[in-house]
Amino acid sequence: MISSASAAAHPNIAFIKYWGNKDQDFRIPANGSISMNLKQLETRTTVSFDPSLVSDQLLLNGNLEDGIVLERVSTFLDRIRSMVEFKAFASVESENNFPTGAGIASSASAFAALSYAASSAAGMCLSERELSQWARMGSGSASRSIPGGFVEWQPGIDHESSFAFSFGDPIQWDLTDLIVLISREHKETGSSQGHTLADTSPIQKARVKDTNRRLEICRQAILERDFPVFADIVEQDCHLMHAVMMTSVPPLNYWHSGTLNVMRAVQFWRREGMQVCYTIDAGPNVHVICPTAEAKIVKDNLYSLEDVNSILECTPGGPARLLV
Ligand code: DP6
Repeated sequence: MISSASAAAHPNIAFIKYWGNKDQDFRIPANGSISMNLKQLETRTTVSFDPSLVSDQLLLNGNLEDGIVLERVSTFLDRIRSMVEFKAFASVESENNFPTGAGIASSASAFAALSYAASSAAGMCLSERELSQWARMGSGSASRSIPGGFVEWQPGIDHESSFAFSFGDPIQWDLTDLIVLISREHKETGSSQGHTLADTSPIQKARVKDTNRRLEICRQAILERDFPVFADIVEQDCHLMHAVMMTSVPPLNYWHSGTLNVMRAVQFWRREGMQVCYTIDAGPNVHVICPTAEAKIVKDNLYSLEDVNSILECTPGGPARLLV
């Protein structure tokens, strides 16, 4: 008998970043992190365990995948299969409503939706905490796409203690993330590989040691809707992560000239009194964050820059959910 379930999840943008693992296999992170789900972007995934299949299949945005993409999903499904009686292979169909290859991390929403759909199809009924723990094993940042709104991932020391929870629902703060698409090129080093290099940077130790301070300032700024404090800590955290990346062996540098131009413009606008700041993940695109009331003017300003011709606009999103 075929057993299926469907789920949806949003990607998230980290304000305090996850970079480096204490345990690579279980993705127990070196430090805690804080993020916001992105409402307008979504992954929808259906998992069907089917006894007639001879291997797992993955259809991603209509394309049949193989190689490491399929392997990563299969490894995740193996973990689920090891927990339950039946051992059927699965067909996984997943669609993103945002352009693949646009440099927007999709592993967070992908593994959040996959854990929810696969565990349901396997007959497991998991709590939000358990779902977050499962999603984490697929992709660290996916643990933060299970709860809604503003989310903190407590690093923990093992599988049980490492999970994410919400500390503010989506209406806590009306922020907008204007994602400036700088390049659609495939990045050279993905984050999974990047995490393994973090400890080769002499800066990583100091960055990890200072994390609780940054988490507290960021969490408090979100709860008090204090944009100036928020802006400074988000940019400092982003710079710290990129300093680690750039000083790793071998070094990782994700910035393009357009990335730097947007960073400088945003810093200039903030000095001029605008409420705006940026953060950057493991890629060249810039997430420009501002109160939604300022989003129109910030967007107009961004489009006036030479390197900017494509922007996605996102506000705080809810939790991962089952689709019926
Ligand atoms: C820079 O969660 O993509 O976006 O666990 O290997 O899938 P894997 O890594 P991933 O790493 C995210 C790195 C980041 C920062 C962040 O989202 O916190």
